[in-house]
Amino acid sequence: MKVRAHAPGRVNLIGDHTDYTGGLVLPVAIDRGTTVVLERTGNKVVLDSADEEEPAVVDLGLSDAAAVTPPWARFVAGVVQEVRPSEGGVGTVRTDLPIGAGLASSAALEVAVALALSFEGSPLELALACQRAEQAASGVPCGMMDQLASAAGVAGCALLIDCSTLRVTPVPLPEGVDVVVVHSGQRRSLSGSAYADRKAQCEAAASMIGPLRDAGFEDVATIDDPVLARRARHVVSENARVAAFADALAGEDLAGAGALMVESHQSLRHDFEVSTTALDELVVRLLRQPGVHGARLTGAGFGGCVVALAEPGAVEEGWLVKGAGGAAAEMV
Ligand code: GLA
Repeated sequence: MKVRAHAPGRVNLIGDHTDYTGGLVLPVAIDRGTTVVLERTGNKVVLDSADEEEPAVVDLGLSDAAAVTPPWARFVAGVVQEVRPSEGGVGTVRTDLPIGAGLASSAALEVAVALALSFEGSPLELALACQRAEQAASGVPCGMMDQLASAAGVAGCALLIDCSTLRVTPVPLPEGVDVVVVHSGQRRSLSGSAYADRKAQCEAAASMIGPLRDAGFEDVATIDDPVLARRARHVVSENARVAAFADALAGEDLAGAGALMVESHQSLRHDFEVSTTALDELVVRLLRQPGVHGARLTGAGFGGCVVALAEPGAVEEGWLVKGAGGAAAEMV
């Protein structure tokens, strides 16, 4: 049996560092992604990637995905640990996503591998299994946004995800607007402790004022520690911006949506402190171009990409992306 599985990457329009606090996010599954073609056989998963020197060779019985080498094979191993297929396979990985750029390349790999290994379950179950795989592989306590966007994408739509209920509501992208992704040139790595530190700070703030999803600015004002107060203020303000942005898209208020993106970037820069000089400069440069409604860093930050909302053709660099359907597999 030979299977071809494709999983899209995602660009997050707004709502970063909110998923792991049960907040709101608004990603778009994009028309770039990762395809795994796998001939099912044997008791190992052997994958060759055009972007990697060494193949991934993963034993079906493995017990510690994080110990596997080469590093990219850890994501394959994390999925094998979750799916526990009875049969392995030999195949290839191909992607047109930039790696480590904030477009969820690792989530796309996980979701495609899981489907190639005949994962059975709903898109939400697929996403949660792949989130656990990512955590086991990388040691980073990531949220579920990337995997859920890849699994549950809807063509032509952004996805409003409530990370408390895990409800996904498609929000159509208006006609006549470009979503453009521009790389800052700075490769992002999440494996440092910065992401885990931010998550721990959000938990510390929540232990003082209750779940950040339900908190208001008056609650944030009671936090004495200035760093924790800033982190909480980002999350509380970002949740409000995501809801307002979804309304702005529905009402085709692109100027309003763009202004919210700029506020989001400033909040990620000053309150959450996950931006970099390269990202800040790129946002400023894009905002100076006529026809750009808004721009912000997308994903975890610490490098990677900026997303801009613009009039058609206004941005002549980067990648123009479209809202794509969710991951799928077929026999070939
Ligand atoms: C990474 C994580 C996501 C999310 C974003 C920040 O992409 O994998 O779960 O936390 O960072 O919004």
